[in-house]
Amino acid sequence: MSIAENNSSILIDNHGRRMDYLRLAVTDRCNLRCQYCMPEQGVKHVPHDNILRWEEMLRLCRILVDHGLRKIRITGGEPFVRKDLVPFLAELAKLEPRPQIGITTNGVLLDRYLDQLEEADIKHLNISLDSLSPQIYKKITRRNNFKETWNSLLKAVNRGFNVKTNTVLQPGLNDDEIEDFVKLTKSLPITARFIEPMPFSGSPDHEFQEFSGYKIKERLEKAFDIKPLNKNDSRVATLYKVKGYAGRVGIIFAFSRTFCDSCSRMRISAQGQMRTCLYGQNVLDLRELLRCGSSDKTIINAINNVLQKRFKNGFEAEKHRTKSLFESMSAIGG
Ligand code: 5AD
Ligand code: SF4
Repeated sequence: MSIAENNSSILIDNHGRRMDYLRLAVTDRCNLRCQYCMPEQGVKHVPHDNILRWEEMLRLCRILVDHGLRKIRITGGEPFVRKDLVPFLAELAKLEPRPQIGITTNGVLLDRYLDQLEEADIKHLNISLDSLSPQIYKKITRRNNFKETWNSLLKAVNRGFNVKTNTVLQPGLNDDEIEDFVKLTKSLPITARFIEPMPFSGSPDHEFQEFSGYKIKERLEKAFDIKPLNKNDSRVATLYKVKGYAGRVGIIFAFSRTFCDSCSRMRISAQGQMRTCLYGQNVLDLRELLRCGSSDKTIINAINNVLQKRFKNGFEAEKHRTKSLFESMSAIGG
């Protein structure tokens, strides 16, 4: 049945995958300059007017929740650099049925918002942390904010937030810290996740170096008595636990793309562009639709339409691109 015929249909793509997860980038701006994400001078900022307003984002989320969306992850850029993020989150939390809401943040500004997040009952925080050494952190992020990030992380954990760390492993830069990150999980109840680097650095000049998740797994097995927690590769993070440790360890095969079979993700950029695969291109201009007075029905039909044209996996999507792959993750919305 098409969405037009039944307003309460859930969204299912052309490969039978239930689409219930949105990654919403609320800004393309960031207070860090991670090498693998953007060039030193940052990315070209778009005029304010081209960014979706909060009420436009809220409307899109509401329409999607009405059609079965269960999970929203707020990304960027860095979400906390946009004014009034928390009031927006509080509005999102009022949607019915309430979606699970998570935030991906670099943690620099996080600690000052923990009270308000607690109040809005938002518990899921993914904190990007590429090194446990302030010097290497600075080299990777090109900013001197290790202390702020680390303090936010500890504070969030102590206050009972569900914290995952994201570490993009780069050979020769931070790959010697794999074991140290795992050791963090001995006493901290966090999930320390290692992400394979992807070629989204915002610049074709950036030398892209692979770091395979399989190699990470070997390193983990060599150093620790680890047990897999999920047997199949369908979840985005393959999870492990070291015997006796409080937290967990995860590997994200972001470049190997092992989890496409069950991918339920839609992405909306800060400019209101929808993409249905990270490795593909934008497929729908939602800002245009919102601003020309479209009804909810027109919007959900347009979304459903692009969901019927999804590629089977990230390799197929990449093959069919017409533009180069070197966009910045901050513009795509990690
Ligand atoms: N490769 C892998 N991960 C990336 N991220 C950003 N750019 C890249 C990339 N090129 C991740 C960061 C952050 C999340 C938003 O996306 O680690 O945690
Ligand atoms: Fe900012 Fe995240 Fe990109 Fe780093 S990876 S520059 S924290 S948007």
